[in-house]
Order: sequence, then structure tokens, then C-alpha cells
Amino acid sequence: MPARSWQQLMANLDDHFGDNAELETEDQKALTDYLVKNAAEFSNHKRSVKIMRSLSKDKTPIRIAEIPYIVRKHDELSSKMVGGNPEVKSLSYCDKCHTRAETGSYSERDINIPGYGPWDDDHSSSFWNRITHSVKDFYNDLVGQDNDSVD
Ligand code: HEC
Repeated sequence: MPARSWQQLMANLDDHFGDNAELETEDQKALTDYLVKNAAEFSNHKRSVKIMRSLSKDKTPIRIAEIPYIVRKHDELSSKMVGGNPEVKSLSYCDKCHTRAETGSYSERDINIPGYGPWDDDHSSSFWNRITHSVKDFYNDLVGQDNDSVD
């Protein structure tokens, strides 16, 4: 998240999503400094750049799941898989599906949606099916026939 998000979050720890998460002044200052220094706008990481680009300057999200880039990345998921999934409950619980989130990996290989299973298999095979089907259709149009041998 951008520095302004971390600052806002850290300044309101007495009401941290309904819990009191207040820290000693020293700890609070150290942690805020760390978060701000490592905020998305100061990173050259590809993903951080995209996150910042997706966010308008007048928006200060206090949840990662409110960032447009992150929302967009999940628009193929049905509500049954996220909010309506008792094992997930909300998009905020990244590690429920991104099994290696704690290592910073959001790769499709490491996605496992509770109750639905791995994401990549189904997803990539239907993607390739679609591509190969349109190539075949195109080929059939080109040769002007329904060539049975091309399936
Ligand atoms: C319900 C399961 C689920 C939850 C919870 C979830 N994700 Fe995802 N995430 C996915 C799936 C599935 C994809 C792949 C979507 C696709 O293939 O288009 C994805 C894609 C991504 C990507 C893009 C990966 C790429 O290679 O482009 C990022 C980054 C990401 N998620 C981060 C997060 C973060 C951060 C959170 C928590 C705030 C989160 N996700 C919560 C299922 C989830």
C-alpha cells in the first residue's frame, strides 16, 4: 500500500478493524517508519508500480483488497468462491487461496481455493482450449471447408 495508507492505518490503531491494536509509542513509531519506508511508491517491484498506477492520488485505501489493481486481478472469481465461501469469507484473507503468500508469491501455481481446488489447471486448460478452437475455426474458414481431420 502507499505510505499515506500505512500512516492512516497506524494512526488509528485504537480501532484496527474493530480491535484495539495500540502499541507503545516507540514501537508504533518504529513500525510506522518501516512501513512508510517500504511503501508501494518507493518500490521498483513490477507489482508495486502497477498497484500505484491503478490508484488515484486522492484515494487512501486502508485494505489491500480495496486497491483497484488487486480488485481487477480477482474479477474472474465468483462471489461463491470468496465472500460466500465459509472457508475464505473475504478477499482480505489472501493466504486462504495464495498458499505461499507469506513468501510473497502470488503465482497461479500456488493458488488453491478452499473447496474449489487449484486454480491454474482448469483455468489454463480452458484458456488453451479456447485458443486452439479459434485457431481451428480460423483454419477451417481459410480452407473453406469443415475439415473433419482437423477436429
Ligand atoms: C478466494 C481466493 C483468493 C483470495 C482470498 C485472494 N486471491 Fe489473489 N488471486 C486468486 C486467483 C484465483 C487469482 C488468479 C486470477 C486469474 O487467473 O486471473 C489471483 C490473482 C492474484 C494476483 C495476480 C497474480 C498474477 O500473476 O498476475 C495478485 C497480485 C493477487 N491475487 C494478490 C492477492 C492479495 C494481495 C490478496 C489479499 C488481499 C488476494 N490475492 C486474495 C485468488 C484469491
